[in-house]
Parts: sequence; structure tokens; C-alpha cells
Amino acid sequence: MNEELKEVYHKCIEYSNNIKNPILREVVQTIYEDYKEKLMNKPATLSSHHYFRGGLLCHIYSVTRNAIAICNLYPNLEVDMDLVIFGALTHDIGKTNDFNDFIESENYSSNSSNSFALLGHSYEGAHIVENYLAKYQIDEQFKNQVVHMIGSHMNEYSEWGALVLPKMLEVIIINFADNIDAHIEPAQKIICDAKAGELYQIGNAPRPYYKSLNPSYNKNNQN
Ligand SMILES: [Fe+2]
Ligand SMILES: [Fe+2]
Repeated sequence: MNEELKEVYHKCIEYSNNIKNPILREVVQTIYEDYKEKLMNKPATLSSHHYFRGGLLCHIYSVTRNAIAICNLYPNLEVDMDLVIFGALTHDIGKTNDFNDFIESENYSSNSSNSFALLGHSYEGAHIVENYLAKYQIDEQFKNQVVHMIGSHMNEYSEWGALVLPKMLEVIIINFADNIDAHIEPAQKIICDAKAGELYQIGNAPRPYYKSLNPSYNKNNQN
């Protein structure tokens, strides 16, 4: 198993150790144990971002890091960090059932025999988390709040979208943390290869972008 991915997995477990609620901590750690192989082998999407083996795990790690960073930017924020961390670590767990494992140099495909095409990853993830929570004595409304972190993380109704729109600050933060990572990762890959002033194209974005012409810009000397 790839050493870098093992390290990323370990960092995710470290984040989960900061969850104070013992049930949420145990649930996320059990999910990570049960889904370890899938997290390490799936991409995050079929084309738009983190399209590589283990991309799903790398994306989830970055979203959790981003979500915690956003919370730290607002020191007086009334926010439940347990929900933020739990939600970030599990927001895309439904994708473990969406795609086949990534195989280098092969045309990639979705796993059409499962719920991917019919239900989508927001439902699939909410379903997985709810099943794990069902083994515990937990307030029904609080359980709904936990599942809400997964079911509404996409923040819009669309083909890839949310089951419901966000109704808690914690999931609004997760959504922005998710979006930042989903846009920066593919852009970064392309910008690295582009020359100064050259147009570059991000995925199926509506228009190409330019790389900076600033003569003082040095990619090895950025603040
Ligand atoms: Fe998602
Ligand atoms: Fe995501």
C-alpha cells in the first residue's frame, strides 16, 4: 500500500481523535476501518477533481483540514467542531459505492450495478452513516443533525446535489471547504504545467484562464 496514502489515512484518524462525543468518534473510526480499502483505492470523481488512486481519501483529508481552518478564522464562531470534523470526514463516504477502483491507464468507469446512477452519493453516504448510528442509543433529532452533514453537503439540488439544503452552520462550512478543494486541486495540476501568460483550461470550465505575467512571480518563492 502506498506510503503517502497511509500517511493521509493516519492524519484522518488523528482528526477523528479530536471528536469529543464518544459515539461519533467510534462511528467514524469504525467506518474508516471498514471502508479503508475503498477509501485508498477510489478516485474522488470520474473527471472533475482528484482523479487518481486514493483521490477520494486525499480529498476527504483536505476538506477536513480546510473546514477546521475556516472555523479557526472565526474565533467566536458558535459551531460544534464534533459535527464539522465528523461531517467532513464522512461527507463523501457514499462515493465508495459509486466507482470502480482506479486502474492506471485504463478507461475509468462508474459501477453501474450499484446505486450510483439511481440514488447519488449524498443519499448513499447518509444511508451508510445512519446505519452505523442505528447501533447506538442516540437522540433522534441529534442523529438527524449528524446525517444532515452528509445529506446536505452539496448545498444545491442538482444531478450531483443535496437531499436537502443546509440548515446548520456546520454543514455550510463543510460545503465551502469541499468546494475550495474540488476547484483548487484540478487547477493546480494544470497551472503547474502552464507557462507565464499562457492560457490554461480547467476541466470542462466555461473559459480558459491565464497564468500570471508578473516578472516577480516565482513559483518557488511564494508567500
Ligand atoms: Fe460530495
Ligand atoms: Fe467532497
